[in-house]
Amino acid sequence: MPDSQLPIGVFDSGMGGLTVLSALAKAMPHEQFIYLGDSARLPYGTKSADTVVRYARQASGELVRRGVKALVVACNTASASALKTLAEDYAPLPVYGVVEPGAQAAASQADSSGVLVLATESTILGGAYQRALLQQNPSLEIYGRACPLWVTLAEQGWVGHQAAALTQHTLEHGLRGFIEVGSRPNTVLLGCTHFPVFRQQIETLVGAGVSVVDSAQTTAAVVAEDLSKHNLLRNASTATHQMQFLATDGVERFRKVGGYFFGGALSHVELVDL
Ligand code: DGL
Repeated sequence: MPDSQLPIGVFDSGMGGLTVLSALAKAMPHEQFIYLGDSARLPYGTKSADTVVRYARQASGELVRRGVKALVVACNTASASALKTLAEDYAPLPVYGVVEPGAQAAASQADSSGVLVLATESTILGGAYQRALLQQNPSLEIYGRACPLWVTLAEQGWVGHQAAALTQHTLEHGLRGFIEVGSRPNTVLLGCTHFPVFRQQIETLVGAGVSVVDSAQTTAAVVAEDLSKHNLLRNASTATHQMQFLATDGVERFRKVGGYFFGGALSHVELVDL
């Protein structure tokens, strides 16, 4: 088994996975983390599954080479296409994805009106969320909508008050058909790590009575529970909290804009070449 003193490796195609990292750090306050954002090759969500698997292997390889005790694939697109391959590549290293925890979170809220999954093209077309949700509840009504432009807006830091009109219009376009209609699903699943930065606007658009969920908290709970079960958590009395950030391009922009996703300022971001 891996050394429990090592950090936990987390990767995403860009900054979106920082929303998952933030939840992981809250769930496991004594752990150290290395986060890799593959900003040079984002978006993953418009690429073929083969390409996403190749990129995910390279990003994971970098983290594993640096020494990690577990790997969290904090990217829905990579989790959907590459999780099985990565788990096989690195066994017995524990490898966790975000799709199953996200499906769990959504299925626990959904009633007979169903779930609307908002994600990248690749995630929606590959059907991983649809399968994971049906595993939770075989009679669940599932709707899927690809919202690739949301990734671009989020990654550019066009959240909150900046460019409010354009962001609002793009969010409305993504949710067309699900705003203010009588029979809309009661649960919206943010199946892309970039989307939680728009949670407030999405909640306002879909209106009261609709739960907006994402996979960050459920993933963090799954990882914390599993690492604890395998005695892989650090000793709380001696441990210090540490974060290391890596990106494959635009490190200064990554550091500045990443704060929106992480919910706090990022320290130094190291440039890596995969
Ligand atoms: N972070 C990716 C996800 O969660 C989406 C961004 C991309 O297209 O690269 O699916």
